[in-house]
Amino acid sequence: MKVLVIGSGGREHAIVWKLKKSKKVDKIFCAPGNAGISKIAKCVNLKVESTKALVEFALRNKIGLTVVGPEVPLAKGIVNEFQKKKLKIVGPSKEAAKIESSKVFSKNFMKQYHIPTAPFKTFKIYAEAIGFCNSAQFPLVIKADGLAAGKGVIIVKNIAEATKALEDIMMTKVFGNAGTQVLIESFMVGQEVTSMAVSDGKNIIPLLPSQDHTQAYAGDKGPNTGGMGAFCPTDFVTKDVMTQIFDHVLAPTIHGMSQEGIPFKGVLMAGLMLTDAGPKVLEFNCRFGDPETQAVLPLLKTDLAELMLTSVNQTLSSFPKLSWRQGSSACVTIASKGYPGKYNKGIPIKGLHDFKEENCFAFHAGTALKEKKLVTAGGRVLGITGTDKNLQLALDRAYRGVSKIKFNGIMFRKDIGFRVLKKK
Ligand code: GLY
Repeated sequence: MKVLVIGSGGREHAIVWKLKKSKKVDKIFCAPGNAGISKIAKCVNLKVESTKALVEFALRNKIGLTVVGPEVPLAKGIVNEFQKKKLKIVGPSKEAAKIESSKVFSKNFMKQYHIPTAPFKTFKIYAEAIGFCNSAQFPLVIKADGLAAGKGVIIVKNIAEATKALEDIMMTKVFGNAGTQVLIESFMVGQEVTSMAVSDGKNIIPLLPSQDHTQAYAGDKGPNTGGMGAFCPTDFVTKDVMTQIFDHVLAPTIHGMSQEGIPFKGVLMAGLMLTDAGPKVLEFNCRFGDPETQAVLPLLKTDLAELMLTSVNQTLSSFPKLSWRQGSSACVTIASKGYPGKYNKGIPIKGLHDFKEENCFAFHAGTALKEKKLVTAGGRVLGITGTDKNLQLALDRAYRGVSKIKFNGIMFRKDIGFRVLKKK
């Protein structure tokens, strides 16, 4: 079978790397891919949003399965267009992708189906949002309704911060139309966990839980990024907690979406807070997480192509139990100075051509080849994943890998996993 993976980040490199191990897969294309992906798959110069061209490419090349990495093409309806041509594609329809593309839809859905989440209010009028904040208890979380590349969630500690956030989102429109409506919710305290799960619209199978570090700086401080590191599994998610996540979040979400007439197929990612009152949803995503995928997939023994096909073919109920490697996995993101703000591109990267560290994988994100030399091409440049018997050893391995990489303005967090390790 020929497979097409859509996207160009570390997540897509990890997906391609894992699909490459499948006996079912003969050839992998990736659109547009990156320098690392080009070593193991054929990169195709098509943008992730060029739906028409991607459909034509899939038809012309007899693609048997397409896997979509990022949320934007899903929110724009790429799955609907592929399905019109009877092409097999993993992911939710445009309508079901609203679970990520509209936070207001997502929260109202959770309320309707009694899926635990923080109490919230929605606002289209700036003055009303300010009025609410004036009499609310801080801290609060202010979220732009639409997609904002992971930057549309702002935690505010007082009315001055709330006013600034609401002005930015609703008046200055720093996130464009994504800020036409806002959602204001209570701040939740606890340990965060990501639960990714594969669904065929009726059934859902969770992958191992993971935790990511969104903030740019040590101690989970500083601006939000796409993700500075992740690890898997999360020992604090006991069997009992996983059962709660399944029974109270994953299963009712799949049931509810089906009841609404918009069954969710593909990868559902629940960002959760483990509160004293049990797991509560921070947000849903309609795709694999980045960098969670780079930490989770190296531990998965099950054939990813077969798992993805069960989502499309609606055969998840008869799919064997997922099989996992023992031990832990940790991914450290290497970024370029300035990220998540402005950063330079085209900086030569050293240390990758002879990168050899056992059980350590260098997943490329923002990389490109310029005159046959590897250079930076994005804010997040690489994700180095280490696997080993336990989290500390996996992290040691990942950081040994990180130490081999050099470029001007290299930046990475040195404390991935600190929330778990400091408790030991
Ligand atoms: N790591 C969070 C995300 O993929 O949205």
